[in-house]
Amino acid sequence: MARIAVTGRLPEEALHALRAGHEVVAWRDEDAIGRTALLELVAGADAVVPLLSERVDADLLDAAGPQLRVVANVAVGVDNIDLAACAVRDVVVTNTPGVLTDATADLAMALILAVTRRLGEAERRLRSGELVRWGMFVLLGTGLQGRTLGIVGLGAIGAATARRARAFGMRIVFTKTSPADPGLVAELDAEHVDLPTLLRRSDIVSLHCPATEQTRHLVGSAELDLLGPSGFLVNTARGSVVDEDALVRALVDGTIAGAGLDVYADEPHVPADLLCLDNVVLLPHLGSATVQTRTAMATLAADNALAVLAGEPPVTPVATPG
Ligand code: 8YV
Repeated sequence: MARIAVTGRLPEEALHALRAGHEVVAWRDEDAIGRTALLELVAGADAVVPLLSERVDADLLDAAGPQLRVVANVAVGVDNIDLAACAVRDVVVTNTPGVLTDATADLAMALILAVTRRLGEAERRLRSGELVRWGMFVLLGTGLQGRTLGIVGLGAIGAATARRARAFGMRIVFTKTSPADPGLVAELDAEHVDLPTLLRRSDIVSLHCPATEQTRHLVGSAELDLLGPSGFLVNTARGSVVDEDALVRALVDGTIAGAGLDVYADEPHVPADLLCLDNVVLLPHLGSATVQTRTAMATLAADNALAVLAGEPPVTPVATPG
């Protein structure tokens, strides 16, 4: 019987699958597990099923012990995992691609609409008791029809967001580090450009690249300057892709028109300067937060862990270096 350490609360379906034939030790509090409790929980585990809030590094792998065979992340992003440290220990890493594509693209589209139509600001004013009524010039926003959406990273979620934006009458430009699928490009009637061109040409930029060394602070003050005073930035990828200090300055001084953010550089911390700005919509990392999607993510992570423990190939492995 293998020992499986689950570092946070998971939907019952996934726990049920893991418990069939295995010993499951799980953190059950609503609050995230602390580091000391985390290292204790994983000790002796053959599989670790972490949430994206848990750092899986060499120390954690060593605390688990040499019997550890798989880290089955309950997230598509694996920036919380030291892939090289897993590779040298022969620990398989898996993630949950696909099952959260639509939910996250829906949320990116929601942020695009919310920030361009000033929905957060409007609701705050209404709830505060201010008399906000129909008026020719009250809370006017920016329409999407005929505007250009810049997708940074045309992967699955970027493409799903672009499809939604097309239905709103938007044009698509995109960046992508690997060659783009010509069929997808034709379907979206999209144009592959470099990042400066994308920033100059876009009315709204939506980030969909993974958090890596290469994408850290991909969008800083120079890039926000290129987006310009009528431009909006939406981030449902990772906070580290944006230089947050530069973004706060750009939102305060009007270098860009607004931002919709689901992710932050140092979650769950949200910079105080952002909290008092009206031209930014702030969400607490909700991209995949639907009952169906979270269940599918947890179930896929469980399937991955169980496959490796059974000596089978995982469903959705992550390539590790070396
Ligand atoms: C997010 C995620 O909800 O799986 C991940 O790696 O972070 C998603 O579940 C989304 O990317 C943020 O909007």
